[in-house]
Amino acid sequence: MLPVGPLMVEHRLIERMIALLGREAKRIRATGKADTDFVLAGIEFIRLYADRSHHGKEEEILFRELKTKPLSAKHRLVLEELEAEHVQGRKAVARLATVRERVIKGEAAAIRDLAALLEDLAKFYPAHIEKEDRDFFLPCMDYFTEDERARLLEEEETFDRNLLTAHFEGLLDAREGKPLAAAAPVELEGAAATRYGCMACGYIYDPRMGDAAQHIPPGTPFDQLPDEWICPHCHVTRKMFIPQGGIRP
Ligand SMILES: [Fe+2]
Ligand SMILES: [Fe+2]
Repeated sequence: MLPVGPLMVEHRLIERMIALLGREAKRIRATGKADTDFVLAGIEFIRLYADRSHHGKEEEILFRELKTKPLSAKHRLVLEELEAEHVQGRKAVARLATVRERVIKGEAAAIRDLAALLEDLAKFYPAHIEKEDRDFFLPCMDYFTEDERARLLEEEETFDRNLLTAHFEGLLDAREGKPLAAAAPVELEGAAATRYGCMACGYIYDPRMGDAAQHIPPGTPFDQLPDEWICPHCHVTRKMFIPQGGIRP
């Protein structure tokens, strides 16, 4: 199998979830009501399967190796577009999570925003996938030798194995209240040291420790967490966090 084989199989699953989210948008427009449980299932699918596993393998394995090759001008341009689209996709899912929380809080305008965001996603993903499937993945295989292709495929398998274990290990550690980082804590001063608590589940983000499960190194202040960072315990967005009034006891 070619190293793009598993990626193309994953595209088919992503298309199915995106089609269901598009159908949910239509239902919201028709009824004025949202199935927020299903939207959460969609958000979790996109975050773990599409963003971390699928886009992770593209960016950290396939794209990384392609960048070492003498790419044609066209392929280099498409590669840059695809990377920018991945960033756009991660931001879109962070917005979706925020709007879903506004719907749950009962904000009247949020239901229309939710439908609009789902409609955007339903357009964005199929276009991105088509660009990869049609113009990029198969022609790009010509840059690799047989041995290189076999190594890429092996690396993809290891990537997924490690990701799955790290993901669920992170969830269990958070639920058991274990410190997330094996690395030593980094001391911080002033506002950067402020801990933030999740209003939904009570999890406390401690900037001295970071969040190993989401690759946040110790010493990362709350306001420097990426937009797509979520509560490792209950998966709400960072907007649901409030400052805890300072330094760790
Ligand atoms: Fe992609
Ligand atoms: Fe893809």
